[in-house]
Amino acid sequence: MGYRVIGGRRLCGEVVIGGCKNAVLPILAATVLTGGKSVIHNCPDILDTHTSIEILRHLGCKVEYDGTSIIVDSAAAAARALPAGPVGKMRSSIIFAGALLSRFGSFETAEPGGCRLGLRPIDLHLQAFRRMGVNFDGDSQTICGKAAELTGAKINLAFPSVGATQNVILAATLARGRTIISNAAREPEIVDLQGFLQAAGAEIAGAGTSTIVIDGVEKLQNVEYKIMPDRIVAGTYLAAGAIAGGHIRLKNVKAADIMPIIDSLEDMGINLHTEGASVVLRAKNRPNPLPILATGPHPAFPTDMQPQFTALLAIAAGHSIVIENLFEARDAHISELVRMGADIKSEGHRFYINGVERLNGAKVAAKDLRGGAALILAGLAAKGETEIHGAEYIKRGYTAIDKDLKALNAEISVLKTTP
Ligand code: UD1
Repeated sequence: MGYRVIGGRRLCGEVVIGGCKNAVLPILAATVLTGGKSVIHNCPDILDTHTSIEILRHLGCKVEYDGTSIIVDSAAAAARALPAGPVGKMRSSIIFAGALLSRFGSFETAEPGGCRLGLRPIDLHLQAFRRMGVNFDGDSQTICGKAAELTGAKINLAFPSVGATQNVILAATLARGRTIISNAAREPEIVDLQGFLQAAGAEIAGAGTSTIVIDGVEKLQNVEYKIMPDRIVAGTYLAAGAIAGGHIRLKNVKAADIMPIIDSLEDMGINLHTEGASVVLRAKNRPNPLPILATGPHPAFPTDMQPQFTALLAIAAGHSIVIENLFEARDAHISELVRMGADIKSEGHRFYINGVERLNGAKVAAKDLRGGAALILAGLAAKGETEIHGAEYIKRGYTAIDKDLKALNAEISVLKTTP
């Protein structure tokens, strides 16, 4: 399956941004901790949500999902080994390790899969668990962790890993004593996890800063929570407006969460302003290049927006350099953009871009989620027709990118045939 995009139309209109992929996944894992009922609203209907539900059911939770709200009853959950199928599909399934440790003191999982962006080890997660009293065994395929008693600890992360920060928060919530995470990741999705846990009765503070303090509690209570809007989906549609030109309004956006994206677009000469929970973009001319766009942990520019901005800079009026600092192999979109006429030289994790006036439609293949979204954006700015194959990657993070872009006046349709 794929998408067909006819380039050249200016965008106009408005769309509402839905719930956040990277927030819903750890929060679904956190429902295991309550031992009761969690009602979660604004859940995006994407593949990874369904994979998390599959894992929850496998653990013995009762789950209902109507496409927006998820009700999880984790009363009957047990510390079963995480199922190899879903774990192989989704890297963030490692987040269930912290939840299971917290509630049951043990977990067993296969090595997690996910988008192939390089090595993506989980050493920081395991090191932190070790400090909380977890011992490990297992073979080359599986990881088993067990704590006689899970205890709070001082954890200084060598790198502000999003997943490791979330895993420690989950483990610490029902552990004995106080856990202090220093050099914690500061991503808004961590604030959302804290919001859910606080609503369920956890003692946690500091998310959004580099130091998070969690005092373990005996148990949590039933909880109802609404997932934050997806800042990467919002950023992707802003980049769409910038690459195609036009005047669009995105509703349900927390501008503070996407400041690095807004700042970079403004540096490119794109006009943006916020009105309450809406962001309005006006783009008339070819964007200016950026001397350097470097990804980094929040609040630096997000790696999950790097491919979309690489596509955008490919049509900017001049030279730009993109530096990918988070993942060593987040570059599968480069060769495809080059097939569409982009002038990009890739040296390791640096991309040297010489902006061209127009891209050309071509048959291209998405090889990961955000790289796939970048190819759709490139199609909007290309002459003629672009076929983007590999929609299954793109659907992992976008509920309905084709419908949303169509609502913004783009010419895009779903392609059923394979190349
Ligand atoms: C999360 C996001 C992902 C985003 C990334 C960085 C979810 C579900 N996914 O992924 O979309 O691209 O944050 O913003 O929220 N690292 C180690 N050892 C570890 C853990 C991480 O070396 O134990 C390295 C990784 O290989 C990577 C970097 O740290 O180079 C960042 O990874 P991390 O912040 O952990 O990202 P994820 O949680 O996997």
